[in-house]
Amino acid sequence: MFFSPIANSFPQALNRLYQARDAALQNGKQVVDLISGNVNQAGIQYPEALLRAALLQALPETRCYQPDSFGQPAARQAISSYYAEAGVTLPPDQFLLTPGSSISYFYCFRLLAESGDEILCPSPSYPLFETIAQLGNVRLTSYLLKESRNWEIDLDYLESQLTTRTRAIVLISPHNPTGAVAGWTQLRGLAEIASRHGLPLIADEVFSEFLFAMEQLPRPAQTAAPLVFTLNGLSKMLALPGMKLGWLGVSGDPALVKKSMRALEMISDTFLPVNELVQFAVPEILRAGRPFLSDYRSRVAGCRDLAARSLSQCRKLALVLPSGGFYLTARWLDPDRDEESWVIDLLNRCGVLVHPGYFYDVPETHLVMTFVQEPQLLESALQRLAEFVDG
Ligand SMILES: Cc1ncc(COP(=O)(O)O)c(C=O)c1O
Repeated sequence: MFFSPIANSFPQALNRLYQARDAALQNGKQVVDLISGNVNQAGIQYPEALLRAALLQALPETRCYQPDSFGQPAARQAISSYYAEAGVTLPPDQFLLTPGSSISYFYCFRLLAESGDEILCPSPSYPLFETIAQLGNVRLTSYLLKESRNWEIDLDYLESQLTTRTRAIVLISPHNPTGAVAGWTQLRGLAEIASRHGLPLIADEVFSEFLFAMEQLPRPAQTAAPLVFTLNGLSKMLALPGMKLGWLGVSGDPALVKKSMRALEMISDTFLPVNELVQFAVPEILRAGRPFLSDYRSRVAGCRDLAARSLSQCRKLALVLPSGGFYLTARWLDPDRDEESWVIDLLNRCGVLVHPGYFYDVPETHLVMTFVQEPQLLESALQRLAEFVDG
């Protein structure tokens, strides 16, 4: 009686894997976490002195509160320049600052869909969207990424999933958890479908800096799609999830962009949720963080190579090498148990925590893991994992 249907629908207990993890930790066992997307816990942190200097420099600007519903202009200018350097034209007045990409999704869902409308998302997919969709009162439908084609989008299938209630198509590239990066041919096909059906694209680019097979990320904002929402933020890009600073870049048909910005302004103005200190610090955080970003990218690429080498040697795993991001999805070729029992056994026997594929709607038996971890820990964990799988 007390609670809403949404509140009642949230699971009351932890799943079996997390119960096993908590029990292992309580018993003092060492567990190497290959599931967390929090790179700070893997020892990657934006340099403290630079962060301190950027925040101190920003402090006087916050003494007299003068909010801007789109976000402080200096921050939007710096973000616009970041895109200009990558050859993407996104003027400062086409950005909205948010407290992170998860909230950017929520804003997009509220902007584009009403109760019962559908948002078409990739499958497999990071489970975050289900809860956001529930909170936004929209339905998720899915299009397939095909493992047999290096997790490419099946565009024909995607188009067949559009209904009269579809209000937007989500693209995640680099993708979590497959590591797939959509190439130009895929993006042009997607933009063509979006134009033909008059649908916006929501482009999640939170892993844009972490590419292993190409220099520049192909972006929907550079296609002829009618309306594109580009999502990113400091969380993954500069290993600053605690700063809670994301953005939405809106591009495409000028009339649609104008209408979107006006409505987003109202949504954002209702809460004004982004911390002013961080907003004023954005230009310096981006500028001073360049050398760190370069080291961080090398570190992630090194971890990816290490994981690719170790797992490719497993006879019983098939792996599509990740082209970007922090995650990979490997297929277990000779399953003798269900996925969940398998990952729980791996945890209990080897102290290595990975996810079963079904958490992400991956069909058949797969394991999903991040490779962003301390290199030594990662190497020994992967060795144990490989022995467990083949043994
Ligand atoms: C694909 C993807 N999009 C968005 C997010 C959320 O990003 P943020 O920390 O900016 O809310 C995550 C977090 O892991 C993610 O994996």
